Amino acid sequence: MKTRWYKDVVFYQIYPRSFCDSKSDGIGDIKGIISKLDYLKELGIGGIWLSPIYKSPNFDMGYDISDYYKVSKDYGTMEDFDLLIKELKKKDIKIIIDLVVNHTSDEHNWFIESKKSIDNPYRNYYIWKKGKGKDGLKPPNNWTSRFLGPAWTYDGNTKEWYLHLFTDKQPDLNWDNIKVREEIKDICNYWFEKGVNGFRCDVITYIVKNQTFENGKYKPLIVGDEHFVMYGKWHEYIKYLHKESWSKYDSYIIAEGMGAKYKDVLDATNELNKEFDSFITFDHMSIDFIKGLIPRKKLNLIKLKISYNKWQQLPKENWQTLYNENHDQPRSVSRYIKNTEYHDEGAKMLFTTEVFLKGTPYIFQGQEIGMTNYPLKMEDYNDIFSQMVFKKSSKTLIGRTLFKKYMSSYARENARTSMQWNDSAFAGFSSSKVWYRVNPNKDRINVDKQQKNLSSILLYYKSLIALRTNNEVIKFGEYKDLLPTHKMLYVYTRSYKNKTYLVCSNFFDKEVKMDLSKVFDKKIGFVILSNYEVAGERNINDILKPYETRVFYFK
Ligand code: GLC
Repeated sequence: MKTRWYKDVVFYQIYPRSFCDSKSDGIGDIKGIISKLDYLKELGIGGIWLSPIYKSPNFDMGYDISDYYKVSKDYGTMEDFDLLIKELKKKDIKIIIDLVVNHTSDEHNWFIESKKSIDNPYRNYYIWKKGKGKDGLKPPNNWTSRFLGPAWTYDGNTKEWYLHLFTDKQPDLNWDNIKVREEIKDICNYWFEKGVNGFRCDVITYIVKNQTFENGKYKPLIVGDEHFVMYGKWHEYIKYLHKESWSKYDSYIIAEGMGAKYKDVLDATNELNKEFDSFITFDHMSIDFIKGLIPRKKLNLIKLKISYNKWQQLPKENWQTLYNENHDQPRSVSRYIKNTEYHDEGAKMLFTTEVFLKGTPYIFQGQEIGMTNYPLKMEDYNDIFSQMVFKKSSKTLIGRTLFKKYMSSYARENARTSMQWNDSAFAGFSSSKVWYRVNPNKDRINVDKQQKNLSSILLYYKSLIALRTNNEVIKFGEYKDLLPTHKMLYVYTRSYKNKTYLVCSNFFDKEVKMDLSKVFDKKIGFVILSNYEVAGERNINDILKPYETRVFYFK
């Protein structure tokens, strides 16, 4: 059966700043990416998601764009980008780029104009509002930024407040203004004409706000969601972009789905509705927190399975994205594989469990070699989100203690260290310096070393990617969780046209006796994949070693 191209491939996310530096200034760049395309082709991936390379003051590392039509000097030139597209085409690798249009940078010309006066033609490109109180010096409402603190900043010049759901250097665009929507459509078309195949739409669920600006319901940290998550004319505006731009190309458009409810995702990703191809959902990224705040000591696998089960039940008109890591999340081996003795087994188990699910799998750079979190000390927190959390938490003793105790495990910095190509001083990322940090474990964990080792994580990834690409059973197969209440094992089947994969993973560092006798009708199966030396015909009801994963195939 013919399906859209993105359902057949595995994607690889490149965070350009930390991927490969070709000009020895310590910052990764486009030419660096080009130099690694053979590596990516060899790995077997069929598409890349490139994090922002636009002109930006980098207050939020490129997620604050000051010109949508320019490439940041840090990353090279527009000619370099054109060359990247050309080289990718030669290799038959697709590319999607970030579309960051909930907000711009405050250094974008639209905002510079908008700030000048209340009757400036660009004023209405953003969301300006009079403050409360006699002199208007109180914010218009209680909404908070996703990065903590008020979502409004006062402008002394025009004596109004502007809205920003992230930092004050990221003012929110006013999507109710048709001119803004037209600008965004033009931006999309411009990049399509350059040859990109789609977009990952950054915090796109937030773009429409309830412009009566009622107060939000009180919540511990984040206030106001009910007034701007997929709010009001959201579907109408997305349909407009779909009609005027996305549908004109053979595109793949995914939404970062912060705060989105199941029903809304169903609507927005139903092929017939002509909005998005898929959503990046977050449930599985929040299961290791109690009340969204305090990290759990031990993985709650049942909760993790509940979140997978929810999204794996999507009807066939919908499509899912699968990921364990990205530039905002800690490294998955550090997150889930608490016993570091089993680093390699754990990394392989996690990827196996992800790849056999329904959806397009994403690998974040370095995940394929099992890169880990960075041993963060206080002086290593440079990300704006960490700084905002620190500002907020440092006011109380309990806040300071929590910051020290937990932040290192979840900070975004963990994903932003240099890609570990080899064991040289700067991990082969650069020859002279790095903009951020190199993880000291580069001597042990690096591409060079793993390329030479037949049992490495990298080569395991490679074989798994090959198996996933164009695989009908994984693409279309029915999904069933066989042991939803088991605390240590995640066991599911994917079945299609008399073929079945049985995927069994132990998420803990203890041996577990697996018993499927009541839920699966076969006793013997053929192991096609394992992270231990297990192969061939085996009894299914067997003992799984620490972090062991086994995939059986039946036909
Ligand atoms: C998205 C990006 C994140 C950024 C935020 C604001 O969540 O992934 O890196 O900080 O949006 O643009």
